[in-house]
Amino acid sequence: MEKAYRKITTRVLQEMKEKGEKIAMLTAYDFTLGKIIDGAGIDVILVGDSASNVMAGHETTLPITLDQMIYHASSVIRGVEHALVIVDLPFGSYQGNSKVALESTIRIMKESGAHGVKLEGGAEITKSIERIISAGVPVMGHLGLTPQSIYKFGTYNVRAKEEAEADKLCEDALLLQELGCFALVLEKIPAQLAEKVTASLSIPTIGIGAGPKVDGQVLVLHDMLGLNNEFHPRFLRRYASLFDTITDSVKNYITDIKSLDFPNEKEQY
Ligand code: KIV
Repeated sequence: MEKAYRKITTRVLQEMKEKGEKIAMLTAYDFTLGKIIDGAGIDVILVGDSASNVMAGHETTLPITLDQMIYHASSVIRGVEHALVIVDLPFGSYQGNSKVALESTIRIMKESGAHGVKLEGGAEITKSIERIISAGVPVMGHLGLTPQSIYKFGTYNVRAKEEAEADKLCEDALLLQELGCFALVLEKIPAQLAEKVTASLSIPTIGIGAGPKVDGQVLVLHDMLGLNNEFHPRFLRRYASLFDTITDSVKNYITDIKSLDFPNEKEQY
C-alpha cells in the first residue's frame, strides 16, 4: 500500500522540534535523486552548493553560480511532492549587499519554485537575512564550518573548539533566531557545543558532524550513498556502496558487449 506522507513546511519542522521528533535532511541536485529521496520520506531536501564539488568536480563551493543553483533547484523541485526544499545562496550572491541578496533570493524562488534559502554566516550578514525574511522568504542559517569561508579557515577541520569562536557561534545562533531564521545548520562543531546551542534555541538545529543532541541531521546524499570512495570524515555514515555497485555494473556491461552476450534474442526487435 502507498504510504501517505505529510507535506513538510517550516511550521511542521517547528512542531517536530517541540515534540522531540528528529528532522531528516539530505542534499539533492537533480530530478531523479530528488524524486527518490522524496518518495522515501525525507523531511527536508537541501539543494546545497556542495553541488559545486559533487556535481561539477570543483575543489570548493565557491565557483558555483546563481544560474547553476537555479538549474539544480528547479530539477529537484520537479520531482518533489512532500519535502521542504531549501536552496543554498551561492558565494557572492548575498554577502555585503542586502539588495543583491534579495534579488538573488527572488530569482531562486521564482525560477526554481523552491521553498526557502540557506545562507552561511552570522552577524556579518544580518542585513541580507532581514531583507530576505521581510520579503516573506524562509531562511535557514548555517554556522560552524561554513565552506564558503574555506580560504579564511584554511582547513576543513572542526570549528569553534576555542572559547572565543564558540562564544561567537552561540551569539550568532541567538541572533539568527531573533532575525527570524526558521532553522539552523550546525556544521562540524564539538557535540557539546551543538547541544548547548540547541538547548538555547526555540528553532530547530540540524547538524552535520555536530553530534546527536541536535534536532535533526543532514548529510550529502552522494557521500551517504558511497558514491565517493575518497571521502571518509568521522561524521559520515555510509548506507550503500554505490561506487562499487556502479563500477561492477559498468564492468559487466562492457564484458557482455565484448563477449556478444548483449543484446540477446529477447533484447531486440
Ligand atoms: O552545501 C551543502 O551540502 C551543505 C550541507 C553540507 C549542510 O551546506
